[in-house]
Amino acid sequence: MGEDSGLNWAGRRFEVTVGPVAHGGHCVARHEGRVVFVRHSLPGERVVVRVTEDRHRGFCRADAIEVLEAAPARVERPCPYSGPGRCGGCDWQHVDPAEQRRLKSAVVREQLARLAGLDDVDVTVEELPGGPLRWRSRARFAVDRSGAAGLRRHRSHDVVPLADCPITVEPAAAAVLQRQWPGAGAVDVSVDSTGAVTTTRLDRQGRPTSSRVVRPGGELPEEPAGRAERRAGGRDWEVEGTGFWQVHPAAADALVAAVAEFAGVRAGETVLDLYAGAGLFGGALAPAVGPEGRVVCVESDAGACAAADANLTDLPQAEVWQGDVDVEGLGELLAELGAPDVVVLDPPRAGAGPAVSRLLAGTGARAVVYVACDPAALARDVAAFVGAGYRLAGIRGFDAFPMTAHVECVALLVPERSTSER
Ligand SMILES: C[S@@+](CC[C@H](N)C(=O)[O-])C[C@H]1O[C@@H](n2cnc3c(N)ncnc32)[C@H](O)[C@@H]1O
Repeated sequence: MGEDSGLNWAGRRFEVTVGPVAHGGHCVARHEGRVVFVRHSLPGERVVVRVTEDRHRGFCRADAIEVLEAAPARVERPCPYSGPGRCGGCDWQHVDPAEQRRLKSAVVREQLARLAGLDDVDVTVEELPGGPLRWRSRARFAVDRSGAAGLRRHRSHDVVPLADCPITVEPAAAAVLQRQWPGAGAVDVSVDSTGAVTTTRLDRQGRPTSSRVVRPGGELPEEPAGRAERRAGGRDWEVEGTGFWQVHPAAADALVAAVAEFAGVRAGETVLDLYAGAGLFGGALAPAVGPEGRVVCVESDAGACAAADANLTDLPQAEVWQGDVDVEGLGELLAELGAPDVVVLDPPRAGAGPAVSRLLAGTGARAVVYVACDPAALARDVAAFVGAGYRLAGIRGFDAFPMTAHVECVALLVPERSTSER
């Protein structure tokens, strides 16, 4: 259907005044009775848009391709690859970093209001040290048919080849983007606290085929899987080379501090660390429960469990359970363990889900600390906790992904009757 059919707007250009920010790195505008999600814009701007996608009756997607009246917070994009139709890695390159944090705060508030019915939640997304560029210490780059590495165009499978990625730490960007990867589908890269760079080559089905670690002292070629050393929460951690770890170098410390503050763990308590990865939160909280207490870290990935086991050997009160956090697995665990005093959960992007959230609320834990990288999933699960007798007693947001629309939140849920407030 073309522009003139009147049914599908793809490719159409028109002027709009841009409204509020929405979840997903765009703002909301209206045109001829339809909602238009506009990328590369800011609230209050007058822009010309080009519709990039129209698959829904209710809304279409568009890029701001010309700015007629700019918002005061608009800046020159520091990355030469970002902009309408170009690399899809960042959403807010055209926005002053302080304003990016205000936009993210507004999104968290809006999601909690809309999905959890909580109006006027007070949250101000906090800056992490290090500035808005060169923070990404772990990344996956796509590889095109010619062997060039880059990132995908927004909502597309097309790879935009890059010679650099200014939000990625320089050694990681250089290790991947300054060479060719013929035959590969993608490359994972991470740089650890010692400066060691691990690159893992993936085939077109996403399976790792080889790994290489380059330490500041020299290269260890073709290791089966590199080990990365990390420092956070006053402890040293070892994780799989490109296995899960907070991407921003300052994030793990900031999250550990926020989780510890919200959890307020006391000697003798039982703590559940769900989706535990290499044991970051469980290991950080274990000293506070002391020898009479117990910390159980639950994680599905075998490699992460092995890392957690090794990381927690000096903490006999901490143990690692390999298994899925789902209604069945969690039900079995709770039957064996009894009710925990504190639950920390840090699920992947999709969140824990309402069923797991209700099961956790059913334990009556005095504090549930929910670490979330998607405010929509968080708000949906907060709604499940609220429906099961908990209330939101505190929330903090961290700008752990500057230049992108992503935000990390830590929320404290307590039983309705509890007087705890943070
Ligand atoms: C966001 S990471 C958090 C890791 C850790 N808390 C940290 O901060 O380093 C989520 C973790 O959950 C694990 N995971 C994903 N789905 C799971 C499930 N259903 N049950 C248990 N673990 C799961 C992943 O392997 C990953 O290690």
